[in-house]
Amino acid sequence: MNILVTGGMGYIGSHTCVELLQAGHTPIILDNLYNSNLAVLDNIAEITGKTPVFVQGDIRCRETLDGLFAQHKIDAVIHFAALKAVAESVQKPLEYYDCNVTGTLVLLQAMQAAGCNTLVFSSSATVYGSENQVPFCEDMPVGTATNPYGSTKIMMERILQDMAVANPDWKISLLRYFNPVGAHPSGKLGEDPNGIPNNLMPIICRVAQGKMEELLITGNDYDTPDGTGVRDYIHVVDLALGHLKALDKVVQTPGCSIHNLGTGKGLSVLELVQAFEKASGITLPRRFAPRRPGDIAESYANVDRAARELGWQAKHSSAEEICQDVWRFLTKSNKR
Ligand code: NAD
Ligand code: UD1
Repeated sequence: MNILVTGGMGYIGSHTCVELLQAGHTPIILDNLYNSNLAVLDNIAEITGKTPVFVQGDIRCRETLDGLFAQHKIDAVIHFAALKAVAESVQKPLEYYDCNVTGTLVLLQAMQAAGCNTLVFSSSATVYGSENQVPFCEDMPVGTATNPYGSTKIMMERILQDMAVANPDWKISLLRYFNPVGAHPSGKLGEDPNGIPNNLMPIICRVAQGKMEELLITGNDYDTPDGTGVRDYIHVVDLALGHLKALDKVVQTPGCSIHNLGTGKGLSVLELVQAFEKASGITLPRRFAPRRPGDIAESYANVDRAARELGWQAKHSSAEEICQDVWRFLTKSNKR
């Protein structure tokens, strides 16, 4: 299939393009390189032996989208492009609503005009908010967002559900990612965010690289086995493979479906730090600090629906495999 991949140069998008190419699909990448760079294209080509079509452009530009749909016979869209830094979204809400929500609306309008009605969408476990109990299940009510980034995901899920009601021939898959981590086993692709990272694994990497002085473990008084926050860390290659399974399913399934992509198991901050130290041989300077505002104690998925309906489950997401792959990416790509 010809797949338009918005945000395909980014962390999750690039890994998904590798899997798409290896499965015989043709990804056509649209990315404005706001949070990625051109070297990713060469790295995808080195891994797969194929260079995907790449257009540098913005999802909010209708002309660019119309051109892409006119030029390529696009069978489906995987929509990754978004701004995703939680703290920044609090400072710059207009930019987040514009990029994420307006961008999605423009994309949907262009799809409608071109007669393309199949979409896989990157949602997040953040939509469960703080009101639900773990393990989070797809049929739980959506929670309350504590930041504009989370609000955009809730809004976009709602828009897509409304689209599916109004247009019964649309086929939409909402994938709720838990905590994506890890890197391609080749060491050629991984997470390398521009600016100051917010998430735990990129911060661990910066500390290991000596680019940040120490890791602040934000909260050691949660009601969890060791007092630190518990999350469902999913290897990015497992996540990418989940998109292929969702794509196979969605093309035959009119309506809007929702699936959690996680491992179903929680890992504490300390457990992840220890696994990273073992994989790298580096002792990370760290200390305990107060809880981060908006954080919850535990987040992990119920993954039964994805196993049952998509035939997918995480296979590479042990703490050891995740940390070994991250370490290989840091060392092999000379990011150390
Ligand atoms: P990323 O920033 O690495 O990738 C996003 C890509 O989209 C980047 O290459 C960026 O340049 C591009 N982009 C941003 N705005 C654009 C625009 N207006 N037009 C065209 N391209 C644009 O992020 P990621 O971690 O790969 O996340 C991909 C998707 O998954 C996002 O929608 C994100 O919200 C969602 N998600 C990510 C996580 C996570 O922890 N990484 C968790 C849950 C959901
Ligand atoms: C965060 C976002 C969430 C978003 C998700 C993926 C917040 C409040 N939540 O979730 O909306 O969907 O990222 O992008 O920002 N931690 C530390 N020290 C740090 C950073 C994090 O100890 O410097 C801890 C946190 O307290 C948490 C765990 O590490 O227990 C994971 O944090 P993070 O990677 O930011 O992910 P989430 O909190 O799940």
